Amino acid sequence: MSSRSAEEIRHAVRKRYAEVSCSAAGRFSYPTGKAGAIAVGYDLSLLVDLPDDVFDTFCGVGNPFALGAIQGGEKVLDVGCGAGFDLILASRLVGPVGRACGVDFTPEMVKKAQANLVRARANNASATVGIAEAIPYDDDAFDVVISNGVLNLSPLKERSLREIFRVLKPNGRLQFADIVLNEDVRAEMTDSLDAWSD
Ligand SMILES: C[S@@+](CC[C@H](N)C(=O)[O-])C[C@H]1O[C@@H](n2cnc3c(N)ncnc32)[C@H](O)[C@@H]1O
Repeated sequence: MSSRSAEEIRHAVRKRYAEVSCSAAGRFSYPTGKAGAIAVGYDLSLLVDLPDDVFDTFCGVGNPFALGAIQGGEKVLDVGCGAGFDLILASRLVGPVGRACGVDFTPEMVKKAQANLVRARANNASATVGIAEAIPYDDDAFDVVISNGVLNLSPLKERSLREIFRVLKPNGRLQFADIVLNEDVRAEMTDSLDAWSD
């Protein structure tokens, strides 16, 4: 629980990720960029020809693809897609008959993701502005929802998860990487906008 409103928290998180959309380098306490992707075990052979810019803005905390194989022809949604690193990987895994869709609530990130999709020739992928707590897609739209380092930033986690299950098909898969705390968080932390957006 926090004395901050959901809108105050979102505003602080958006402000931080608007800055990160230029580069993640030096902005996190964990490895980001190409070093981060190597550290969490991505199959970099799928990403060999990516522009440096796509790696540079990667700030995920794990590898959602390590949790299960994505099949050709599937529809994948990336919640909090950032500048499109996982989105491009998903677009390659689902192939030309499949579809990869990303939503992120920071317009600067979405703009960067859209440019990166063009540069990566990911014609079966899209990135749009959208919020995890009200995902702009129909019920039962996706085979798989992935997310990387996003739900910890949501002040309304239950609502976000309800939305994710709403857009997942029956027997769909949720594959997400995130930060989990094993201890209760002190009030001065839950009330700190810096802590929320860190
Ligand atoms: C740590 S970054 C991870 C970005 C990307 N998944 C990656 O691995 O590089 C978190 C992203 O989640 C987005 N985000 C945070 N809260 C969100 C929410 N409630 N709804 C949609 N996007 C959100 C931020 O704008 C940011 O781009």
